[in-house]
Amino acid sequence: MRLAPCVLLLAACALPALAGARPASSPAAGDAPAPVALVIHGGAGVITREQLSEADEAAVRADLDRALDAGHGVLVAGGTALEAVVAAVRVLEDSPWFNAGKGAVFTAEGGHELDAAVMEGHTGRAGAVAGLRTVRNPVLLARAVMEHTPHVMLAGEGAERFADTRPELERVPNDWFDTPRRREQLEAARERAQRQAVTTPAEARFGTVGAVALDRHGHIAAATSTGGMTYKRWGRVGDAPVIGAGTYASTGCGISTTGWGEFYLRSVAAHAICARVELRGDPIGAAAEDVINGLIPAMGGDGGAIGLDARGTIVMPFNTAGMYRGWVATDGRRGTAVFR
Ligand code: GLY
Repeated sequence: MRLAPCVLLLAACALPALAGARPASSPAAGDAPAPVALVIHGGAGVITREQLSEADEAAVRADLDRALDAGHGVLVAGGTALEAVVAAVRVLEDSPWFNAGKGAVFTAEGGHELDAAVMEGHTGRAGAVAGLRTVRNPVLLARAVMEHTPHVMLAGEGAERFADTRPELERVPNDWFDTPRRREQLEAARERAQRQAVTTPAEARFGTVGAVALDRHGHIAAATSTGGMTYKRWGRVGDAPVIGAGTYASTGCGISTTGWGEFYLRSVAAHAICARVELRGDPIGAAAEDVINGLIPAMGGDGGAIGLDARGTIVMPFNTAGMYRGWVATDGRRGTAVFR
């Protein structure tokens, strides 16, 4: 199995857990509360110092911190991993810096079509939505699909009709998701298309968001949300809302991915990592490296992933120049990062 770049960069890729596994149950009275952990991402891609000013980096990291506050606050208050990942992703969806919710990329037609998913490991429940146009926070609708329908994934008009049945969810006009930066990216993609140049995928798909959490009960959940790829056509759906590809959680592993979705779909990437952990007994760091820095680049794709295991071991591998990411480890160590 290939371990490569992140073995050398292990400190940047995997945070060591507290010693020893712990049972997936509540602590007995008098015990210290079981540790919790949270990891988030705001997308992997071509992020260079030339493209990201120090002021913009500070703004991005401030929003990553707000997402950590939201998710970790849920966990320390005894909330569930599911509640924590939804809280963190909701903050990232509302930030214009990321390609999810406000700030989502444009389709070729000049609109926005949003995808999201959630999965809860210990129950195996999952919910997903694709091609949303008017739901301000797609992650909330994905959770509602999981909790209030017999289905896992709803798409397009049907998903919007289901949203009509959930009056607690805020609706917005499609142009509410517009930002000037994404419009510039659309214009550049249109210009490339007119020249019949191939749209550069690395520029086109950056900024998916996600979160994975371990709660006091030892339960894991994962959530992912995205606008997909700039200039996407024909109702294109990427990996983010596809359970097992962009989002997956089990009793022992949770993963949210970011990157060139077509390759994460073909490799069923999130499940491929968790299967290595649960079926083959790989450490999660090695499993994530094998898929993100081995399998995906070998297929021609790129991107990253975040995840954790039942001990709270956090992994954040990526094969691109950078990945917006943040974490709070089981011992309380916390941080955000952009570059390698
Ligand atoms: N990874 C997000 C997408 O390709 O849509």
